Amino acid sequence: MRIVAPSILSADFGNLERDIKMIDRSAAEWVHIDVMDGVFVPNISFGFPILKYVRKATEKPLDVHLMIVEPERYVKRFAEAGANYVTFHHEACADPRAAIAEIKAVGAKAGASIKPATQVEEIFDYLGELDMVLVMSVEPGFGGQSFMPHSLDKVRALRKEIDEKGYNCLIEIDGGISAKNAREVFDAGVDVIVAGSSVFNAEDQEQAITDILNA
Ligand code: DX5
Ligand code: ZN
Repeated sequence: MRIVAPSILSADFGNLERDIKMIDRSAAEWVHIDVMDGVFVPNISFGFPILKYVRKATEKPLDVHLMIVEPERYVKRFAEAGANYVTFHHEACADPRAAIAEIKAVGAKAGASIKPATQVEEIFDYLGELDMVLVMSVEPGFGGQSFMPHSLDKVRALRKEIDEKGYNCLIEIDGGISAKNAREVFDAGVDVIVAGSSVFNAEDQEQAITDILNA
């Protein structure tokens, strides 16, 4: 499977409607939404008002990436605000199974994300309950950073585990991806590529999305 999820963190917030419409017209299947609390990561992005607006502006699935502490306090609200996928950080969550259950109880899909320094094996004991794993290929917090190649080793290990156990779980990767490295990333076993700056800084944004898909 190949899905591209443009990250609106790199969108022009003065022209958010225009940028959402661009995603709507494009070959991108999902919209990626980065929520940062200034505690789990050293940056603050946005929360419910923006999510509600984006929910109204597009019918494409919303893929919400929570870079916040104590995500279990908020997962339900994000799902109710229109997130189709709610992804919490493994490092920030005391009880991943409870968070997953809360997300699923309101009809959303549940994801867990790991930072570059976290071993992928740490999530294997609850992998069977996840709809998605998000492997961070940069330190979470900012767009426009360089891709960390060692993240592909984690993708390969995940792919193997998911396939061997027969789990129904997508692999997503986030950070530093453009059409230049997308092929290598898909080949490692990734289903969903998140792309922020390589899409929104491009002269032709729709083409940048198509180029990632066809890499
Ligand atoms: C970083 C965010 C990413 C970010 C990716 O913490 O999770 O989704 O928007 O941006 P690029 O594609 O520019 O690395
Ligand atoms: Zn993200």
